[in-house]
Amino acid sequence: MHQSVLVISDLHIPYHHKDSFDFLKEVKKQFKPDTVINIGDLLDFHAISMQETNPDLPSAGDKLSLSKSYIKELESIFPDVTEVHSNHSSLVYRRAIKYGMSAQFLRPYGDFLGTKKWKWVDDITLKLSNGKRCHFTHGKSADVLKVSQTMGMNCVQGHYHTQFNIKYWANPDDLYWGMNVGCLINQKSMAFSYARNFNTRFVLGCGVILNGVPRLLPMVLNNNGDWIKEIV
Ligand SMILES: [Fe+2]
Repeated sequence: MHQSVLVISDLHIPYHHKDSFDFLKEVKKQFKPDTVINIGDLLDFHAISMQETNPDLPSAGDKLSLSKSYIKELESIFPDVTEVHSNHSSLVYRRAIKYGMSAQFLRPYGDFLGTKKWKWVDDITLKLSNGKRCHFTHGKSADVLKVSQTMGMNCVQGHYHTQFNIKYWANPDDLYWGMNVGCLINQKSMAFSYARNFNTRFVLGCGVILNGVPRLLPMVLNNNGDWIKEIV
């Protein structure tokens, strides 16, 4: 088990890149993951964000209805996913707690999204097929190496949309790595207008861990912003 692990992060549905599901389908075909982990920001929830919201975007309710059709499509590609809680996707619960709502009043994610087998967890640690442990978290530090060193094990995170890298470190006992898997966002969407003038761009892609070895799979776009339909 955990011989081929696919790590997806920061789709921010419905503001994901239009080709991201096709890209993920091709990744599935080529790498045949036995484990799929989505490390957060599956949904954007811009309309109930703790930050300023854009009044020209759909309301929370409209967006949830729209998102549900995308979730259904994603579930048909990956029927069994472990979803890690995160800042955006957990906004419903954060909002509720802020206004004194007990968790007992709230429905679990799988319930209101209508997924059958997906399960939501806090950060998760798995033993990979090579016997090494790996920690999966939404995002704890811009420098993933620090997270790996603090945890004393391999680590994967998302959250930092411009970070797409693998870093190694070693001590006398072992060799460890940390991987940032970028995101799959359409940066041109209005929900990300704050990033319009950034000099750096979000990096689109995902990560796979093959028998304990990390590999990044960038989703390369052409000049029109479409995926080139090839895994590089
Ligand atoms: Fe995010």
